[in-house]
Formats: sequence, structure tokens, C-alpha cells
Amino acid sequence: MHDLTRTALAGFKARYDYPAAGLWSAPGRVNLIGEHTDYNEGFVLPFAIDRRTIVALAPREDRLIRVASSFAEEAVELGLDELVPENLHDWSAYPLGVAWALGQVGTPLDAVTGFDAYIVSDVPIGAGLSSSAAIESAVAVALNDLWRLGLDQRALARAGQLAENRVVGAPTGIMDQSASLFGSPDAAVFLDCRTLVSEVIPLGFDSVNLDLLIIDTRVSHAHSTGGYASRRASCEVGARLMGVSSLRDLTLNDLDRASDVLDDETFRRVRHIVTENQRVLDTVQTLREQGPAQIGALLDASHLSMRDDFEISVPELDLAVETARAAGAIGARMTGGGFGGAAIALTPRDVLPTVMAAVSAAFAGHGYAAPVMFVVRAAGGAHREQ
Ligand code: GLA
Repeated sequence: MHDLTRTALAGFKARYDYPAAGLWSAPGRVNLIGEHTDYNEGFVLPFAIDRRTIVALAPREDRLIRVASSFAEEAVELGLDELVPENLHDWSAYPLGVAWALGQVGTPLDAVTGFDAYIVSDVPIGAGLSSSAAIESAVAVALNDLWRLGLDQRALARAGQLAENRVVGAPTGIMDQSASLFGSPDAAVFLDCRTLVSEVIPLGFDSVNLDLLIIDTRVSHAHSTGGYASRRASCEVGARLMGVSSLRDLTLNDLDRASDVLDDETFRRVRHIVTENQRVLDTVQTLREQGPAQIGALLDASHLSMRDDFEISVPELDLAVETARAAGAIGARMTGGGFGGAAIALTPRDVLPTVMAAVSAAFAGHGYAAPVMFVVRAAGGAHREQ
């Protein structure tokens, strides 16, 4: 049995003094390309990673909910009838927020019973790998089974997003939960965020000896405040001034008109979204026709667009990207919402030690905190473990 699975079962038993009825798990995610396009109804290409959250759970006969986890001292207890956004705080806003949101997107929760849950995770927190979506998706699949809601994966993704938006208070899109739910081994999830139609795109990194290196800068970021929300607002202004319902409706051919209609800053925000959507489509096509060794230039271009047009990078991310490229990565970019978090570097396996050493040395040379680096592989999405 996997260590994390054992920890979840043992943790549940120690906390509640009886065995769990089942285990459900969901992965974190990394975004290969397609940043800030999700809430503009555009395209994204993330994949689920080999780091997971597991929830051990058992139904109760009354309407009490108890949630505990290996990463917080306090267990949280709440009646189902008290399950409203205003009552949900701190880490438990993720699991309990999803429980609330399932009631919003599916059957009202009048007839269901409570549950006991214990959560463990090896998805790094604050690294931009969606540890929160992993919790939301694991709890969503667990409660969908437990409460026999019969919701499909798209509805479960929407419930996770609703929990983020309404309970956690972060105006994020649907990418993270979709990647965690739709993920598939050795493949990326090509998602159309307007229709939520997804397609599995084989990555084949292994077959050409490439690794996807995560460089976690340790610069912390939060999307419930500041830059993320203001970028989203700029996109909405840009769409309105361009007369479209979302930036998804613009193509490269509209950029000339956009530069006439919009102020310089809004234009650059819009140009990032329009070009990034195209880069996602190009990456999918390149993966299909030429293989992963040819996508490097698209990753590089994505980074420059985020650095210069969308302005969501930070010096640590730029340094990680530039150093990794100079040391032999074939493409690199910051990933996730920005303002901190992680960069990715697509790296030939034989130069991985060189790239990691170069990034460590560069960070030390700049007086930055040591970055945390590790390779991730594309893994399967959320499911019942046992
Ligand atoms: C965060 C959000 C996602 C997405 C990315 C940027 O990860 O949770 O919805 O907007 O930022 O691509």
C-alpha cells in the first residue's frame, strides 16, 4: 500500500476511533501552457501531476460534519444546516466549501447525512501546483459517491471553482479543478474553458528523454487579493471595449483594432490573452505532429508575454526561467497565476543536474531564498482509491 494511503487510513482511525469507509484521491496540477485564459473562456493545457491529496471518509447517521487533516491541528465540526460560506474559514474552507457548492450545483443537501473526513496530501502548498484544487476535487468525488449525487466531472469541477470563488474568495477560473478531475497518465488535458469539452493530448516526454522540472521560487502568492483580480478586471474591460462577451472571441487579426481602441496597458493585457490562446492551439498541434521536443519556443514565448504584456512575473521567476534556458532546458516559463509560485523548465534528462545546479547558484548569487526543484510526471485524475 502507498504510504500516503496508509497515512490517510491510520489518521482517520486515530482521529475518529473507527475505520474509514473509503478513500478518494485527486492530484495537483501544473499548467504546461495557457495562462489566465481560463476565465476568458479560452484554452488551457495543464496536466495532473504525481502528487495527490487523499481523503478518507465515512458517512454518519446524523447531520454533523467533522473534517480533520494531517496539516492542521484543529478538527472542524459543523452541522450540515450551518454549511454556508460565511461559516467557513481557513483550510477547511476548501473541503467544506466544496460540500456547500455541491448543494448549489446539484441536489439540495436537505436529505443527505453528515460525514467524518480525514485529509492527507503530498501536493506542495503555495508552489502554484494547486494543492487547493486537489483537496476540492478529492472531496468532490468522495461526496458525489457518498451522497449519490450522480454529478459528472464537469459539474464537480464547477463545484470546486464555486468553492474557490464564493467561499475562499479567489476569483479564479476552472482550469485547476478540471486538470485534477480530467487528468490522465502521460497526457495533458486540452480544455476549452467555454464549453468545458476536454481532450487528452499524449505528452510522450519519456520517449524523448525529457523531464518537466518544477522550480518553486518560494515566493508566496495568493489569488484572493491584488494582482490576479486586477488582471481579470482588465480582461473584462478589454472585452467590453472591443464589443465581445469574452476575450475568447478575439483572434490575432483583431489586435490592430485593439491597439486603436484600448489604452496601452489594457491592450497589452488583451494581447497576452489572444496570443496565449493561439500558443495553446499551436502547442497541441506541435505535440501531435512533431512531438514534445518541439514545443520549447512556445513555452518561452508564453513567458515573455506574461512578463512584458500581462506583467505577472517576478524577478525570481524570470531568473529561474532565464537560468534554466541558458543551462540547457529547451523551453521554460512561469506557471500558474503568477506573482510568485513556480516556473517550469522542459529539460533533457541528461542536463537536469546541470540546470538544477545553475538555478541554485543563480538564486544564491542574487541573495534569493533557495528554490525547491523536482520533476513531475503526468498522472491520472481524481478517483476512488478503495
Ligand atoms: C490560477 C487560477 C486558475 C488560472 C491560473 C492562471 O491557478 O486558479 O484558474 O486562472 O491561475 O492561468
